[in-house]
This record gives sequence, structure tokens and C-alpha cells, in this order.
Amino acid sequence: MPEPVAILVAVEQEERPALAESCAGGVDRVLEQSVHDARMNGVIAVGANHPPSTYDIAELGHGASLRHHGSMDPQPETHGQSGRAHEREFVRMWDELEPIGRDRSTGGYHRYAWSDADLLLREWFAGEAAARGLELTDDGNGNQLAWPADAELAGRGDAVLVGSHLDSVPDGGAYDGPLGVVSAFAALDLLAERGVRLDRPVVVAGFSDEEGSRFGIACAGSRLMTGSLAPDAALGMRDRDGLSLAEVLSARGRDLAAVRPRPDILDRVSAFVELHVEQGRGLADMDAAVGVASAIWPHGRFRLDFTGEANHAGTTLMQDRRDPMLAFAAAVLAADEHAREAGARATFGRVEVLPGGTNAIPSSVRAWLDARAPDEASLVALVEAITLQARGMSRRDGTGLDVTPESVSAAVSFDTALRDAAAALLGGAPVLPTGAGHDAGVLSQHGVPTGMLFVRNPTGVSHSPYEHADPDDCLAGVRALADVLAHLAAA
Ligand code: GLV
Ligand code: MN
Ligand code: MN
Repeated sequence: MPEPVAILVAVEQEERPALAESCAGGVDRVLEQSVHDARMNGVIAVGANHPPSTYDIAELGHGASLRHHGSMDPQPETHGQSGRAHEREFVRMWDELEPIGRDRSTGGYHRYAWSDADLLLREWFAGEAAARGLELTDDGNGNQLAWPADAELAGRGDAVLVGSHLDSVPDGGAYDGPLGVVSAFAALDLLAERGVRLDRPVVVAGFSDEEGSRFGIACAGSRLMTGSLAPDAALGMRDRDGLSLAEVLSARGRDLAAVRPRPDILDRVSAFVELHVEQGRGLADMDAAVGVASAIWPHGRFRLDFTGEANHAGTTLMQDRRDPMLAFAAAVLAADEHAREAGARATFGRVEVLPGGTNAIPSSVRAWLDARAPDEASLVALVEAITLQARGMSRRDGTGLDVTPESVSAAVSFDTALRDAAAALLGGAPVLPTGAGHDAGVLSQHGVPTGMLFVRNPTGVSHSPYEHADPDDCLAGVRALADVLAHLAAA
């Protein structure tokens, strides 16, 4: 079966058989279960009249407001005042993370891999591990893993991994990633409060560079760990300033030779659970605080390089121009048109124009397409249709177009036993797919039995400062995660 990258790299060649024909093996590999678009995590726009979040995340950082919620009373299985320790810990952790990498003017976060903010987040993770007597390890790829100190327990080959990531998209929300890490530590606290004996090692994971905001490749940390991203390719990735990952890691004093797949670690993992804020309105619409993920849509990031000829905006006749902006514009409109038709998603969220003068025809336009679809055949067809339409315009104008897949993720169906057990443990919680990518998808593709829990997002907005989850729902997520961990870590 061809890798999705191999499938989609075909869009680079202009002269080729229809893409769907050229990758028959790939297009057969579709979701094992159907994905209902109505339940997809559709992201809604934050318009000028978008209602503000019901409260700012800073409010979650104040224990007083959190504790005043009636439904925050200890669950029956917890023990009086001590049963609330995990709630206080949750609030404290959230409070500590709140200022790190935050842009006070927008309220959004800029937490990019190996930035100063990222280093502070890594220190914070190390502190939380130490505070719980956990032993912090780094897999060499920047993924942080906090193991139980008990050597006999930690040495078992059936560890249960739980966690998420701490990095963000540009001007991202507070919850995407950090909610999963904070909830993992808080769930351990709750299990300790409940006196639950964990027969398997529960290991808290903070995955590196999940968003790929700096170097372009999504889930770089987990891909490196699983071997689906080659170390050389990763070390050669460059950020917007032209710095390679190798240069950045060296400047941070990291060992480049340690960047490599870690089957030795993954062989010791029996399951992975990632809790995440929902990035759509599925749970809000179903009036449920917590849900269980069934699947992730196949998705990919593609770099489109449009090339033309710089010239004077005032004197160059329209018919004499080789303006690459027009083929780019065709691609943008094609993305909208074809994604709507296919019930898919296509987004151009990043574009660079050279030389960037108002009075100069551009010499080049570099843009990134984020495309996602319910199944792999639809994703392939979507990217092909967008590319063909853009090529039509570039042929008319004598401009060039190269398409480079930067990171492509196949469809993921989460472990059905884990999914069903989690839904049952949570009293028949809703099960829903998502169009968002996660480290859980990477580990699942690698064969690790993996599940995800989603926490309700009242507006569905994500990758935005408006991203939100109510405190009660966050703590319901912690309890749900603790229940699932107790189940998975039982002998
Ligand atoms: C990650 O959040 C993604 O889906 O882009
Ligand atoms: Mn994200
Ligand atoms: Mn995330």
C-alpha cells in the first residue's frame, strides 16, 4: 500500500494519469467506518459579531471562580475536601501556564517548537513530573515522558501513555494541547486521591511540535518517535527565518544524534490516551461534556510555489504580465468550490508574496494548502482538482506552479475496543470523528492501541484565542480520563 505522501506527490507532475487511477491501492484505503459530515468538527469563523467567550481563560486560572461552580462538588467516589485536591491542582497548573507565550493584545498564544516559550513549557512539565515523584525522560526528539519512579513498575512492557502537546498554532487558544497535558497530571492526582492501584505504569507524555507551526510538519515529535518522519528530513526543516531544525536544536544544546525513531520506548507502551478540547460543536450540539473519538479524517499540508516575473504595476500591460498571483487566486477559489462540493475542507491560511511591493507585480507567491476529507480518495481528488484549476490559470499566464506535499496523514480509526470501553465507562458518551490532526493519530497509525477523549467546546472555535471549554467540563474531562486510565492500567 503506498504511503499517502507517495500518493499525493503525484500532484507535482503535470503529465500523468488521473490521480485516482495512479494510486488505486491508496484510494482503496478508506475509513473503516463512515464519517458523518454533520458530526464532523466543523470550525466556525470568528466574525466581527462573534459572541465573546463566556469568560476569559484567566478566569479558569482563579480557583475562586472555579470552586464556585455548583457542579464542581466532589464526585461520590472522592473523599471530602481531599477529593478536591486534583481540582486545585488543575487550577494551579492552568494558572501557571496562562502567561507563557501569550500575546496580551490578542489573548492568543505563540508557543512554537524550541522557542523561549516552548522551553518554559518544557520546564513547567519537568516541574510537574518532579512534584509527583515521576521520572522525566526525553526521547531525544524532544518528547517529554514522565515515568513512575518505581523501577519495577516502570520497567514493565505495558505502559499506558497519557498526554498531549504544549505548543500552539500562531495566535492559538489556551486549550488545544495544554488541556490534555494538565488533565493527564490532574487525572493522576485524582487516581491517587481515590487510592486506585495502578498495575501498569502510567506515563505522562508531552509531545514536541505537534502543530508544526514553526517548521511546517505537523506532529513532528511523534512522527520522529514512531519513525514516520526521517531524522535527516526533520533536521533539514527550516523555519520562517531560514533556520534549520538542526541549527535550532544545536543552539539549544541538544544532541542531534539523539533525534531518531524510538521503537525501544514504543515497544513498552500498551496504550495511549489523549484528551483534547473538541475543535467543533459536536458535543455542544449533543449536550455532552465529554465524548470519545472514533476517527480522524485524512488530511495534508501542501506547499504551492507559483512563479512569475516581477514588473511595474503601472506600466506593464495586462496581457504582458506573468503574474503568479492569478494562479494562486484560482487555487483559492478552486479550494473553496471543490471542498464545498465534496463535503471536505480546504484552507489557504498562509501566503508569502515576493517582492511584496504594492506597486510591483509579484515574482513569486508561496502558499500553503491545508486539505482534509472524509476519505482518502476524496482527499486525493480534492487536491488534484485544486491543482488542475490553478495550472489552467498558470498556463494562460505563462507562470509556473510546483506542488510539494509537506505532511500528509492517512485516515485514522481509533482502537475500537478502547473506544467502546471508554464510551461505556463514561456512561454512553457520544462517539464522534474529527477533522483535526493529533499525536494520537500518529501513534494509532504506528499500531499503538490509541483512544481520544474530547471535552466540549461551547462555540467549536479552535486555533483561535476564542477557543474555550467551561471549567466544569474540563474537570469532567479529568474524571473521565482518570476512569479510562484506571481501566487501562488495571492488571
Ligand atoms: C492540528 O491541530 C491540526 O489539525 O492542524
Ligand atoms: Mn491544533
Ligand atoms: Mn492539539
